[in-house]
Amino acid sequence: MEQVLSYIESNNERYLGELRELLAIPSISSQSDHVPDMRRCAEWVAQHMRTIGMQNVQIMDTPGHPVVYSEWLGVPGKPTVLLYGHYDVQPVDPVNLWTSPPFEATIRNGSLYARGAADDKGQVFIHLKSIEAYMRNVGSLPVNLKMIIEGEEEVGSEHLEGFVKEHKELLKADLVLISDSSMFAKGIPSVCYALRGLAYMEVELTGPNTDLHSGSFGGSLHNPIQALSEMIASLHDKSGRITIPGFYNDVRPLTKAERAAFKKLPWNDKKYAKQLGLKQLYGEKGFTTLERLWARPTLECNGIWGGYTGEGAKTVIPSKAFAKISMRIVPDQTSVKIARLFEKHMKKIAPKTVDVKVRMLHGGEPAITPIDSPGVRAAAAALQKGFGKRPLFQREGGSIPIVVQFKRLLGLDTVLLGFGVPDENAHAPNEFIHLDNFFGGIKTAAHFYDELPDYWEKGSRRK
Ligand code: BES
Ligand code: ZN
Repeated sequence: MEQVLSYIESNNERYLGELRELLAIPSISSQSDHVPDMRRCAEWVAQHMRTIGMQNVQIMDTPGHPVVYSEWLGVPGKPTVLLYGHYDVQPVDPVNLWTSPPFEATIRNGSLYARGAADDKGQVFIHLKSIEAYMRNVGSLPVNLKMIIEGEEEVGSEHLEGFVKEHKELLKADLVLISDSSMFAKGIPSVCYALRGLAYMEVELTGPNTDLHSGSFGGSLHNPIQALSEMIASLHDKSGRITIPGFYNDVRPLTKAERAAFKKLPWNDKKYAKQLGLKQLYGEKGFTTLERLWARPTLECNGIWGGYTGEGAKTVIPSKAFAKISMRIVPDQTSVKIARLFEKHMKKIAPKTVDVKVRMLHGGEPAITPIDSPGVRAAAAALQKGFGKRPLFQREGGSIPIVVQFKRLLGLDTVLLGFGVPDENAHAPNEFIHLDNFFGGIKTAAHFYDELPDYWEKGSRRK
């Protein structure tokens, strides 16, 4: 282990150079002009896996972007970890708000800035480097390892469920490990044990059959942008609760113990508001901010458009107005049921002056994983060693839809070992990863692989 750790320390500079190469590939999964970049990125990851000693490396096609698979199964009898991550990234617009170009990784103030630095290329790379350190110094890993790094996480992992179903035998393992979430804060390591799910919808309102001159026609009809705004405004009541009938029916209430545990975490609403540039926070009454972020469902308008938004003025009443609205859901809500309730409600509240169409773009289920599993214990021990601090236990508000599929299809629990931070600007301009977390992450990952067999054995003896 000592050799592994000192190897990691003495190779820091090289790691950054290699990570820069990976971050330079604009693997934006949602944009069709980046299809060749997606393949180039999958090839880069596959090639890197070969370089560090992973075996049976394959780029496996799906109806969408390819999945990169590899394995190292050199210690029969030891647990097998299925490591999941994603090489795709979110779009970069508005690109003018980036201080340095999104695909030219740049170090400023101890952080590395680039799209994908934290979500999730940087975190996938953390594992590749910890594996390399073992392979070069020990010649083997403490555990068996299978990796799937996919290219569609940021667009809802549409084809991954089918992929897992088709390759159940290949993906057989003892637990799943994912580094695609955050620590509680910089310098405060944490293990995450629950994620929210998502139901993502698009709404289209049609008023008149064509755009109209707002002078000749204004006053005679309901502008669809106004109608849509009125509908959206009515989706929350005065206490910040969502007004869709039945929306909260399946929400599992927070236990007393959980509420007490959240209250003990170091949190300050005022500081948080200031950091976000807000005069005041907003949210469902009766719950703390952490409760609202991690364990309560939400409804957000992600985008709204229609009419004229170009330069200068145009006096027009648009024929159509659109909105993208997504709902973060919590156990035991399900995305399909929530989507149905949303659609029914939008149709009910749409005024007679417009036609409404509602579509579901994608969905994912909320996940909660047992906090006392051997994997989670090993993760906590690894964080303690990697960062020199006892980790906190926390939930997260984001979603990784495949977590639930791994449980359903492969029977596997997931360990969420995140090295990002909540304010890393994921999905926004100036995404970054703290270099301390990056290097601490490599060591922590190495400790995790080292600790797991023991915890695993103890865990199976307890059963
Ligand atoms: N890395 C995030 C998931 C995440 C975010 C976990 C914050 C914990 C905290 C992931 O890449 C992501 O953004 N997922 C999407 C999923 C969606 C497209 C189905 C999300 O949460 O919006
Ligand atoms: Zn993301």
